[in-house]
Amino acid sequence: MKEILVTGGAGYIGSHVVKMLAERGYHPIVFDSLENGFAEFVRGHELVQGNIGDYALLADIFRKRNIACVMNFASYIAVGESVQLPLKYYANNVANTFELFRAMLDSGVKRFIFSSTAAVYGYPEEVPIRENAKLSPINPYGRTKLMIEQALQDIDAASGMKFIALRYFNAAGADPGGNIGESHTPETHLIPLILRSILEDEYTITVFGTDYRTHDGTCIRDYIHVNDLADAHILALETLVSKGESAVYNLGNGRGFTVREVIDAVKRVTGKNPKVKEGPRRPGDPDVLVASSEEAMAELGWKPQMAELETIVETAWRWERQRKRKGW
Ligand SMILES: NC(=O)c1ccc[n+]([C@@H]2O[C@H](COP(=O)([O-])OP(=O)(O)OC[C@H]3O[C@@H](n4cnc5c(N)ncnc54)[C@H](O)[C@@H]3O)[C@@H](O)[C@H]2O)c1
Repeated sequence: MKEILVTGGAGYIGSHVVKMLAERGYHPIVFDSLENGFAEFVRGHELVQGNIGDYALLADIFRKRNIACVMNFASYIAVGESVQLPLKYYANNVANTFELFRAMLDSGVKRFIFSSTAAVYGYPEEVPIRENAKLSPINPYGRTKLMIEQALQDIDAASGMKFIALRYFNAAGADPGGNIGESHTPETHLIPLILRSILEDEYTITVFGTDYRTHDGTCIRDYIHVNDLADAHILALETLVSKGESAVYNLGNGRGFTVREVIDAVKRVTGKNPKVKEGPRRPGDPDVLVASSEEAMAELGWKPQMAELETIVETAWRWERQRKRKGW
């Protein structure tokens, strides 16, 4: 029951989950194409380089090993790019993921934990957003995630493969050890970009839109520490094993911060002034995205431990300086 296949495990969130799985006595097997991940993030753990679209390679692993559950982080993640290159996103996030499902079903592996996203909601009608809110993604990235959630329901009904889909809000922060953290190319996430505007002479962060319906005009988002996400995955795994029921949960802190408030938190934590300019709105950015995570708390027994924005920024700052030193 201890071997867990972590697809996309060499990326930002996956590598934090891999570290925590090992700390809690599981044996994570990382499976990653390394297209956007780093072998260094999972040093000391078993790593298979491969693509989730590779049915034969996955079926071979499932045949030889005793995989209790697959946790899938492997996908492309950039909303803007998904608008420009939708087929790239449908091919990887949907078609390749189906090959993973096929290999699982053919090998009798019947537990799956899925990285879903707040993007499945689109423009929410109510905030905080509950899991039963309308699902209406407004970009190809969000649609690929919703397609997988829907496919999982059909596959469960037909084959009894049980799943938990976790809809993350804004993953942020880094392991306090400072050896793993966020590293996307291109980076599109707010906190690393603010920190880079401090560390890199030539980089200035743009605040996209200052006329949103929020108290300071900038967008409000719910930032959740990556280790709190990792903890939720392990609780989800244990709940899937003990209850054997499929479910969907939001994961956020239930508190939102504007872009300006995050910039202020960075100033307080680092004692430095980020370089900031203002720009027009980007299409497809809702005013406010804040999660209700009450169901995850009640049913998984989850409680975020690093919920303070300062803590999130502090750990990201430690990592960002390390990342720059290592040239990642
Ligand atoms: N970062 C966030 O704020 C956020 C929010 C909501 C949901 N998510 C979801 O969480 C998951 C992980 O996000 P992340 O920020 O760690 O991204 P990431 O890009 O750092 O990690 C994704 C990993 O998957 C690997 N990968 C991609 N396609 C693959 C394939 N076909 N086969 C094998 N490996 C493949 C990449 O090499 C990378 O290591 C993604 O599915 C993303 O959609 C992330």
